[in-house]
Amino acid sequence: MSEDKTLTMVTCTAPANMAVIKYWGKRDSDLILPINSSLSVTLHQDQLKTTTTAAISRDFKEDRLWLNGEEADVGHPRLQSCLREVRRLARKRRGGGDEDAAPLGLAYKVHIATENNFPTAAGLASSAAGYACLVYALARLYGVEGELSEVARQGSGSACRSMFGGFVQWHKGERPDGKDSVAQQVAPETHWPELRILVLVVSAEKKQVGSTAGMQTSVDTSPLLKHRAEALVPERIAHMVQHIRERDFEGFGQLTMRDSNQFHATCLDTFPPIFYLNDVSRRIIALAHRYNAHHGCTKVAYTFDAGPNAVIFALADTVAEFVEVVRRSFPPAPNGDRFLQGLPVGSASLAEELLSAVVLEPVPGALQYILHTKPGPGPQLLDDPGQHLLGADGLPRGSA
Ligand code: DP6
Repeated sequence: MSEDKTLTMVTCTAPANMAVIKYWGKRDSDLILPINSSLSVTLHQDQLKTTTTAAISRDFKEDRLWLNGEEADVGHPRLQSCLREVRRLARKRRGGGDEDAAPLGLAYKVHIATENNFPTAAGLASSAAGYACLVYALARLYGVEGELSEVARQGSGSACRSMFGGFVQWHKGERPDGKDSVAQQVAPETHWPELRILVLVVSAEKKQVGSTAGMQTSVDTSPLLKHRAEALVPERIAHMVQHIRERDFEGFGQLTMRDSNQFHATCLDTFPPIFYLNDVSRRIIALAHRYNAHHGCTKVAYTFDAGPNAVIFALADTVAEFVEVVRRSFPPAPNGDRFLQGLPVGSASLAEELLSAVVLEPVPGALQYILHTKPGPGPQLLDDPGQHLLGADGLPRGSA
């Protein structure tokens, strides 16, 4: 934390996460309480992260927000919920019960600047990392400790799972006030060192139906979603926890694929139906099944959120071969992005039988790039003041 007489500033980073048992549907849209529990893997911040600087000063005239350098609307209701909740916890902690007791700082205006190290346009869930980072930074700024996933949840449901590293369960909770709808770590990121994640970024498409609107229509119209939430997810969560504890890739991968498919089935069961997968997504699904069939076991597992990009789980010793299979199946456009990004991938030569069994009709240019990453830790506080996104004047660095 940087502090002078007039300015207090903190900078934090937070990760994205990928659900293997999906959250889809709210029972309370204001508090963001889900109809079922969910479980995710936190992605490593070396590849995907949000950085947020939050500052308070008695010189600030109004609350202000900058997203990737552009000033944005600070009045967004979900952002306001997070701000209100962190300030409430700060007051509680300092022993003040009401507004009058607000200690210095709580009455000051706040400046917030936030940046992603990955293109928002890539369609990779940025709201989870964004709200987790906002809440973590505000909590550090106001000296709040303890349970924060409940606050992050009120920014975006999936954000509560980004408050922890490794493997994280969001308990749906029972209480109407949401106090028990919190995230909990199932295992740390060091638990399964061989696990790797490949994000297959599908070439740009027009915008999808957003998660918030989509899941509400599903809750209102899909009997399959209701059945899934009530009868199927509780058992799936228990099995997934066990597969993770045992580092059982066969079980983990099978259930990950089935749960992704069931989530997309509930989208099709929504009326009017929602389509997040496209032709390339479906080709990736078929490719993964051919690849696993060729090997006679689950070597790779796919999962898809509210968009066409695939996230593939595999063990480290499979990555080089599968990446080569993907490259042969979706030959990169000659002047596109760097095709392989993130953690290094070794080279692999493919056996003739593998090629003829798995790589059927290549589709050039269908993928923009592949990002190679692994499970990673939860939010971090950065000590180096050089990493603040705001300058000593409380404005974004580099701005006029
Ligand atoms: C398909 O957390 O983005 O990614 O709570 O309305 O902000 P809101 O929705 P959001 O939904 C994520 C849905 C999902 C599945 C998941 O992450 O579990």
